[in-house]
Amino acid sequence: MQSPSMQHRVLLDTMTSLLLSVSPCKDDTVRILIDELRPIKARYRVPDVITEEGARCEQLRVERKSKDSVTLSWSSGRHRVRVWHFPFRLEILCDDEVTLTFNHKGKLWFETLQDPPSHVYGLPEHADGLQLRDTRDGEPYRLYNLDVFAYDVHSRLGLYGSVPLLVAHNADRTLGVFWLNASETFVNVGYSQSEHEDDQTPPVKRKRMQPQTDVHWLSESGVIDCVVLLGPGPQQLFSQYAQLTGFPALPPLFALGYHQCRWNYDDEADVKAVDAGFDRHGIPYDVIWLDIEHTDGKRYFTWDPALFPEPAALQRHLEEKKRRLVVISDPHIKVDPDWSLYCEARDGGHFVKTREGRIYQGSCWPGESSYLDFSNPDTRAWYSRCFGLDKYKGSTASLFVWNDMNEPSVFHGPEQTMPKDAVHHGGWEHRDLHNLYGFFQHMATAQGLITRSGGLERPFVLSRSFFAGSQRFGAVWTGDNVASWEYLKISIPMVLSLSVAGIVFCGADVSGFVQDPEPELLVRWYQAAALQPFFRGHSAKVTKRREPWLFGDEVTAAIRTVIQERYRLLPYWYTLFYLAHTSGLPPLRPLWVEFQKKESAFTVDSQYMIGGALLACPVTEPGVQQVQVLLPGRGEVWYDVRSAEVHEGGRTLSLPVTLDTVPVFQRGGSVVCRSTGSGSCTAEYQQLPLSITVALNTQAAADGELYLDDGHSFSYRDRKAFCLRRFSMLSGRLVCRPAGDKGTFGCDTTIQSVTVLGVKSAPSAVVVHVPGAEDASAAFQYTETCCMLTVSDLNLRATTDWEMLIL
Ligand code: GLC
Repeated sequence: MQSPSMQHRVLLDTMTSLLLSVSPCKDDTVRILIDELRPIKARYRVPDVITEEGARCEQLRVERKSKDSVTLSWSSGRHRVRVWHFPFRLEILCDDEVTLTFNHKGKLWFETLQDPPSHVYGLPEHADGLQLRDTRDGEPYRLYNLDVFAYDVHSRLGLYGSVPLLVAHNADRTLGVFWLNASETFVNVGYSQSEHEDDQTPPVKRKRMQPQTDVHWLSESGVIDCVVLLGPGPQQLFSQYAQLTGFPALPPLFALGYHQCRWNYDDEADVKAVDAGFDRHGIPYDVIWLDIEHTDGKRYFTWDPALFPEPAALQRHLEEKKRRLVVISDPHIKVDPDWSLYCEARDGGHFVKTREGRIYQGSCWPGESSYLDFSNPDTRAWYSRCFGLDKYKGSTASLFVWNDMNEPSVFHGPEQTMPKDAVHHGGWEHRDLHNLYGFFQHMATAQGLITRSGGLERPFVLSRSFFAGSQRFGAVWTGDNVASWEYLKISIPMVLSLSVAGIVFCGADVSGFVQDPEPELLVRWYQAAALQPFFRGHSAKVTKRREPWLFGDEVTAAIRTVIQERYRLLPYWYTLFYLAHTSGLPPLRPLWVEFQKKESAFTVDSQYMIGGALLACPVTEPGVQQVQVLLPGRGEVWYDVRSAEVHEGGRTLSLPVTLDTVPVFQRGGSVVCRSTGSGSCTAEYQQLPLSITVALNTQAAADGELYLDDGHSFSYRDRKAFCLRRFSMLSGRLVCRPAGDKGTFGCDTTIQSVTVLGVKSAPSAVVVHVPGAEDASAAFQYTETCCMLTVSDLNLRATTDWEMLIL
């Protein structure tokens, strides 16, 4: 018998009949779905997250069937699943080895929908509801999107967004468990040792202790819909997860530049003055942001007539310098029957309702507000249209968007959010889809910007709330952090966790949203954030102004240096984002992603890899004169990016630091492309020639890629107008060739210089070979102290084939 997926009746206890469906999907993933066989009403299944491609099933074969269990296989018998009926247990086997057991301890409890239970009261006094709650020991990870101002660090309480993906890694395998449920969810994790019998045959059979990780998921509503990602390595896992929930969008190039935000830039003159300040101080930046005060009484899609009388002219002023404006657009809509947008939303049935069927009202920035029901496709389509240039008065094509308060935040609501019994499209209760609210707003906004451009331009939208799949729509940031050292430190594991869970375009407010940073913290924060995907300075309303030039020349110079370095590194960042877009691999990676067998790297979260080539270890403590940097990989070599000094891998380096030091190392075996020279924004940097740094490994080899396109449109996708090149070096020969997919992109980008690190002796000559031209000798310089060869004045086209021979 063959079927694409298996549907089975499971008895968890004598009273409950459940439907189990097991579907092997493309790319080594297995989806396990459990629902009630006969629910008293339909249970919510999360739509729109798993892509059509991700949902496609493979054929499943029944291999064995008995009265207690059934064994099914797919992928030519390479993978199998074994299901026991009672007690219910499910095992996934890869090449005959049990890789994952579902309900191994028989703890699965699926609460069926019932009439309301009896209530219990008493035990005063608590700052809690009247009805008593069920409580257990410990604090699980809570997935419940909430607006938490100046949140505590080292807490497992829920913050703005949720991605119910758990990734497990050891030296042999990387596994993922994706729990597709958008209601309030708790996850318990337990590390333990358990007894296992070894493989010997009796009488020598022995017991041995083995590490075991137990994970327990608990969700308030919905179905059990769980996808197991079988890896076996991190690369495959990221690709499996991206197939399932979507690949990260390719951001427009400007979005990878530096963003300057503040709550608020007061008026048009203020915006122009800050913009001019960047030019005056020679600091590149791309986007200036307007927070809620730019609107007419917190009515999004409007402008304060006194402060921003000429918004389109302001955008044109910025656009002349190839810069952009981002404005905020929150999901709450001021209750104002004299405002056409409110009336349209009300009359179109676009607001969330109360359980009694009235339009729900809660308070937020504008006062009494109603909340758009983004779970309704019609509401999303209507909201998308609100970004049309004809509809959004005062907007131009160079305006982009920031979605905030979309957990949603309701000032006087329970836990500052929407009551769980509010009613959405289709009659679903808010509890069912709470964690999807921001995801759907982000989706509608990104679509609005795409539609505005006639489908031609890539959008940029930043969202505070998110769910699995939000990577398809744009960037997220980590919300209202504080200007203190511990928040700088925690920003690194926070962006790493987001990256591992597919939300690869992420960052934290630079130098802390709440309170005023001391200058040293400000500098260290810029240094760290310049090496993270989304790079935006932001500060709260009551904080002092903190544009980079307000703290004296030394601070200005330090910030200028790191922002300029970020801009020079953009060809590398952009290439990493293209690779994320096509393979799911995050640009920012925990060390274990690159050093899969190095146990010492598994717990490190103060340093990370940018792509496969660069290791960053930002300084996150005050007054530090030395930092410890783990350079993983015995037998590897690492080069200090600033000094070119070489270090052996497999050890911890004590590195002396001053306020100017940003510890970054290039891995031997990699190639990194940078822009040379300087400019005022990404568009100017895009015109600059490139320099390539080839860092040789112990076999004197290296390779790396470069991606180029127009930086803003969908032509790379629709007309294959892009260029992906590979630089490979072996035996003294550097070759530039196309890598993988064929695209055609005509551009004049040139390679001006090549630096090779790890060259043991001075060459006698360097010869450049371009097909169809005569071989030419190139000018070079060799620095013996750091084994560095620099070949300059090259002027080689990045988009054509060439070779360089070091003789
Ligand atoms: C929220 C946001 C913050 C923003 C403020 C005003 O606190 O997290 O970034 O500045 O609202 O809109």
